[in-house]
Amino acid sequence: MLKTHTCGELNAAHIGEMVTLAGWVNRRRDHGALIFIDLRDRFGLTQVTVDSDQTAAHDVAAQSRSEFVVQVKGKVAARPEGLRNPNLATGDIEVIADEVTILNPSKNPPFYISGAADEVDEMLRLKYRYLDIRRPRMAQNLVLRHQIVRFIREHLSNRDFLEIETPILLKSTPEGARDFIVPSRLQAGEFYALPQSPQQLKQLLMVAGIERYFQIARCFRDEDLRADRQPEFTQLDLEMSFVDSADIRAIIEQMLVELSGVMLPDKQIQTLPFPVIGYSEAVEKYGIDRPDLRFGLQLFNVSDAVAESDFAVFKGAVASGGAVKGVVFPGGNALSRREIDELTDFVKHYGAKGLVWIGVAGEAGADGVYPAESLRSQVTKFLAPAEIAAIVGRSGAAVGDLILIVADKLATVNQCLANLRLEIGKRAGLIDPSVLAYCWVIDFPLLEYNDDEARWQAVHHPFTSARDEDWPRLESDPGSVLAKAYDVVLNGWEIGGGSIRIHRSDLQDRLFARLGLSQEETQAQFGHLLEAFQYGAPPHGGIALGIDRLVALFAEATSIRDVIAFPKTAAGTDLMLDSPCPVTEKQLAELHIALRPQKK
Ligand code: AMO
Ligand code: AMP
Repeated sequence: MLKTHTCGELNAAHIGEMVTLAGWVNRRRDHGALIFIDLRDRFGLTQVTVDSDQTAAHDVAAQSRSEFVVQVKGKVAARPEGLRNPNLATGDIEVIADEVTILNPSKNPPFYISGAADEVDEMLRLKYRYLDIRRPRMAQNLVLRHQIVRFIREHLSNRDFLEIETPILLKSTPEGARDFIVPSRLQAGEFYALPQSPQQLKQLLMVAGIERYFQIARCFRDEDLRADRQPEFTQLDLEMSFVDSADIRAIIEQMLVELSGVMLPDKQIQTLPFPVIGYSEAVEKYGIDRPDLRFGLQLFNVSDAVAESDFAVFKGAVASGGAVKGVVFPGGNALSRREIDELTDFVKHYGAKGLVWIGVAGEAGADGVYPAESLRSQVTKFLAPAEIAAIVGRSGAAVGDLILIVADKLATVNQCLANLRLEIGKRAGLIDPSVLAYCWVIDFPLLEYNDDEARWQAVHHPFTSARDEDWPRLESDPGSVLAKAYDVVLNGWEIGGGSIRIHRSDLQDRLFARLGLSQEETQAQFGHLLEAFQYGAPPHGGIALGIDRLVALFAEATSIRDVIAFPKTAAGTDLMLDSPCPVTEKQLAELHIALRPQKK
């Protein structure tokens, strides 16, 4: 090795030892006779002091610049009293250099490695990702990712799960996104699809008698990207035979509890066992199927109480089949008009036409009626006393609070209020950063109607089983059929989802027919699965956890890009490698591909 120690390990116990360190110049301070180099490697920082007595070493140190790769030989010494740095693991010592060697110089980096990430444009960080990863924060995220995956591998291996690799060059496995496809050279005009998940293969492994499978699996989905979505991402993919939903949930819950305890010893899981919430209850109370349970602020619904209101916005929304729901901003009556207008703009961004606000400034009278001076609002003059009493009563607002209401189509109302609730949680300081609020969401609808294509489609994927009692309604009332599906949510992020599968070919056939697939389409796309189910397929089910999301939450990163070594931009590009990029005419010809002229 070109070094005897890392830059993170020397302390008072090493004083007097001769050591060799190697790493990058984090910072160099030139005091003339004394040059200080903060030497950095993956493990930490060590201060190197080069005295002008050591002429050769001093000359080399004087030439070194930020990000030069250098090797230092010298003696560990105690730092002078008063110059110790308690914030640094190596802060009690310094290395007095006898010899400094430049192993490789560096161009002036495009950004300071020691600066904070949010000071640097992310596009620049992605173009020079190899420099960005030198940043301790990024390197720590990758260490955490490694530790989490390692824990999962060990945990599941100790419980009889087998890790099995499945192909990347595959056939379409629908998960609701577009496929990435790969042209075949050997089979002219034919294409592989990259897996959106190993879903069908893990089910086939259950038919194969594996019983307990997992894989740290790369998945590919061509969909619109967001902070929590990448076109390629990693799942902990898992499948078991002879289980029901509760068994899968128990296995995953135990693993997440242990993982959280080991990786985040300073945080507490809010509720054990994890709360289990029905999908419709989650949407009613939180407006969304992945509620952040770190704080309360449940939504309230006054649709029935304002259906006949003189306030046209409310009456109109209910009359056209929509809803009137709201949420309370605790202490929000103290907000200025400008701050309330900001909240109005906030919900408009999510599709609301406006935001009704009612500040509760005082109590109701003995008759339950709020005198005008008790309420601060732009609309109470249009509302009957009984309507106001219902709104304030159902909202649960106390004096000093602000009631916020949206009237619209139910989906719009829920979307606006779910986001408004999170915004209030942040602004009102209701989020305890040391809490991990896990929950399960169950009883999802099996199918949803796709208006554009005028057909029913699977909410999860088409291999998910209906609840036993709901199968009879598959044809007569498909919208009412609930699935044996479950999602696991952490602090408002969906970190995983799974289901008990259909394992009988007659039921799988029936579901494909319900989705509007013809016999021919079913055979062409899923014939292998239907056939396999005829050879003794065991009852089975599973789940997949989004590793990138889990690591991002554990690392307190705002985007999964910060826990992926080489992520793609929101436009799906790799700025470092400059991909995707054109290929040569020769490659295209071998692949039997002619490009269409591009629409400008
Ligand atoms: P699902 O589609 O819910 O289920 O995916 C499981 C989990 O994977 C994560 N995830 C993503 N992470 C980053 N970028 C993406 N584009 C992305 N898409 C999904 C989420 C999600 O909860 N085969 C089923 C699982 C099963 O039924 O066993 C599946 O893939 O955290
Ligand atoms: P308008 O009648 O459009 O002047 O709106 C009166 C008040 O009601 C304004 O403060 C709007 O922000 C609010 N408002 C309008 N439409 C809605 C709606 N769909 N939901 C909630 N508030 C609304």
